[in-house]
Amino acid sequence: MSDFAPATTETPSSNVKGAGQGMLFGFWYPALRSAEVRGRRLKQAMLLRVPLCIGRDARGHAFALHDSCPHRGMPLSFGHFDGDTLECCYHGWRFEPKTGQCREIPSLTARDKLRVDRIFATSFACEEQDGYIWVYLPDPEDRHPGSRPPLAQDPLPVCPRLPIFSPRYRITRLSAELPCHVDHGIIGLMDPAHGPFVHQAWWWRSRQSIHEKEKVFEPIPNGFRIRAHTPSSNSAFYRILGVYGEPITTKIEFVLPNMRFEEIRCGAKWFSSRTTVTPISAERCRIDFCAAWNVFRRAPFIVPVFRLFGRMFIRQDQRTMEKQALGLKHNPSLMLIDDADRPAKWYFQLKAAYCESKRTGQPMQHPIAGPVTLRWRS
Ligand code: FES
Ligand SMILES: [Fe+2]
Repeated sequence: MSDFAPATTETPSSNVKGAGQGMLFGFWYPALRSAEVRGRRLKQAMLLRVPLCIGRDARGHAFALHDSCPHRGMPLSFGHFDGDTLECCYHGWRFEPKTGQCREIPSLTARDKLRVDRIFATSFACEEQDGYIWVYLPDPEDRHPGSRPPLAQDPLPVCPRLPIFSPRYRITRLSAELPCHVDHGIIGLMDPAHGPFVHQAWWWRSRQSIHEKEKVFEPIPNGFRIRAHTPSSNSAFYRILGVYGEPITTKIEFVLPNMRFEEIRCGAKWFSSRTTVTPISAERCRIDFCAAWNVFRRAPFIVPVFRLFGRMFIRQDQRTMEKQALGLKHNPSLMLIDDADRPAKWYFQLKAAYCESKRTGQPMQHPIAGPVTLRWRS
């Protein structure tokens, strides 16, 4: 029944190549909100303990460089960007921001033989999607050091995108930092049993509303899905959706490294959300919640009202994690129980399987063989 939770920073994968401190390289992560990066200003960000310098070129396209000058390690984000090249604030070396290629070293004389164009600041693939600047973090061994150009790579995986089901919709984004390792953030995200205790609210659920649930989970590439089902009757939110008089279904998916998608359909009406928990450092992660919908699209104040509830919900999780972090500081032994913690166990197994496939070059062995029914009370 019980299982030891490998949920401290010493996850089973933490000694596997490319998975330093239980963080998974080889994926896209949201680094900043698009709106935070304007004009020629350079912004700092941190993903998987990698400091980043993020900006926009003259055409408005985002770029991401390792926030460290290849000369003597000065953060490039303290430098100056003129829309074309980025100048380090220490000795004025200039870099092209998309490739990181060095364009000029002011201290060189005509007699110097150093090939400036062979020097590179480390650059990262960068894309904008759903109002976030996403950065692809390759395995550290695939990253090019400052002395050579980027390595030719296999095509990158597609940058994640929130599923949208009609041309007109509303969209909003919320985020919160958590003072814990990403693993705790993620298993908190997929934990079905905390709802009635952490998210007690008249419009959601209460202790009195606890009842037995049974859901079918099935494997999907890099993750698992709760099959489309009629949502829990103990939630006022779903009862409100009942005004449309159409059957309501909800589908939830978890996909490595850190994404939970939820899709609610009610005839032509829909609600779609994605929650990511992004590792910043070994003790810090960030929840980014992005939701789009066409339900009650014309209702006045729908976005602020939704944000109010959303923020309350995320704040409840954040407070809980802040308290849990106080306990985790003492490195307690932990347990994961069936069936309520089974998704958490699958998360660790998926991570381990992913790292193993990277190590061996073999296809990933999915830890879930086929559909499984889980039962719990919440
Ligand atoms: S540290 Fe950047 S130019 Fe010297
Ligand atoms: Fe929660």
